[in-house]
Amino acid sequence: MESNLLINGDCLVELKKLSDNSIDLIFADPPYWMRTTGKLKRVEGSDYDGVDDEWDKFGSLPEYEQFTTEWLKECYRVLKKDGSIWVIGGLQCIYTIGAIMLNLGFWFINDVIWHKSNPTPNFLGTRLNNSHETLIWATKSSKSNYHFNYKTAKELNVDQNGIFTNIDKKQMGSIWKMPVSSGNERLKDGEGKKLHSTQKPEQLLYRVIAISSQLGDIVLDPFGGTMTTATIAKRMGRRFISIEKEKKYFDFGKKRVEETEAQIGPIEQATFDVKPPKVTIKDMIENDVLKIGDWFLVKNSKEFASLRADGKLDYNGNAYDIHTCAALIKGVKADRLNGFDHWFIRKPDGDVSLSDLREQMRSKITKNE
Ligand SMILES: C[S@@+](CC[C@H](N)C(=O)[O-])C[C@H]1O[C@@H](n2cnc3c(N)ncnc32)[C@H](O)[C@@H]1O
Repeated sequence: MESNLLINGDCLVELKKLSDNSIDLIFADPPYWMRTTGKLKRVEGSDYDGVDDEWDKFGSLPEYEQFTTEWLKECYRVLKKDGSIWVIGGLQCIYTIGAIMLNLGFWFINDVIWHKSNPTPNFLGTRLNNSHETLIWATKSSKSNYHFNYKTAKELNVDQNGIFTNIDKKQMGSIWKMPVSSGNERLKDGEGKKLHSTQKPEQLLYRVIAISSQLGDIVLDPFGGTMTTATIAKRMGRRFISIEKEKKYFDFGKKRVEETEAQIGPIEQATFDVKPPKVTIKDMIENDVLKIGDWFLVKNSKEFASLRADGKLDYNGNAYDIHTCAALIKGVKADRLNGFDHWFIRKPDGDVSLSDLREQMRSKITKNE
């Protein structure tokens, strides 16, 4: 499947050209259908440049629903069976989009709140300040074996700008606090004005791509805008396809992607989530890390078991695997404990933990690879 494509066109047409089951990750930031009327004014009277773009206008709810169904249907078709889709929207559209997604068969994994640390104020004070957007993370079915870099997400869970305390590298939650795109990151047009009214923060895309894809994956964005998704995908060593209808955004976005270089580090590679090689007790015997007849003991217990040739333990004349035997000796309610966490081996120079011996064996395997 051809990738690294930036397409200036209508996604309703262009998506049809992509193959079935070919995309690993979709990030869609569709028109919100904001339904703004009149000019928004700041408190001191000046005009506020909100979302009042032609591409965001629809005649009626059925028209918006039809448009949404059409592009989402295509996304469903092109997404791999184990791929992920993220769709972002505000209150104006996310409930409509969510209902359509469920009708099409998408399966929801999470809804994430992007809590804006610098939201646009509600100038007139007529309602709560609208300070968040919602992202729906979904797969094609409940059976999808989707990609989730769980430990990488923990690594990223460090800076929430003071919203939570004690979150450092703990399990990532579904509220992400970050500012709207501003400063150098925000693209400006020829007159120095912001190019796009809804350019998304790079940090947001970084998180989405880091936790739900891997190096080399194809990331599709049907509503590319300033090409934030393609830019971050390229920077993170992913392939990309991005479609944008408006020539002005497309041209600026294309330049932005072309000027981007890959920067691959542990987050991009999801090194934290790489599973260590599987090592069994039999492997350890075959590699002389353990010997038949070795004495196994559980810390703080006077009970011993001895290692058999088949990798099991002989305890009082019966054969048990290391996990069942550990549970038995510790007298816990569970049938099994993780034996690697509990056993020590009696060696001439002192007791060595089984888990340390396994690590030694793992590093031997990794060195030989
Ligand atoms: C909410 S913005 C996306 C902004 C983008 N995420 C970014 O960071 O710049 C939606 C974009 O979709 C584009 N668009 C609207 N309808 C489209 C269509 N049918 N096909 C392709 N692009 C479309 C608009 O021109 C707009 O740039």
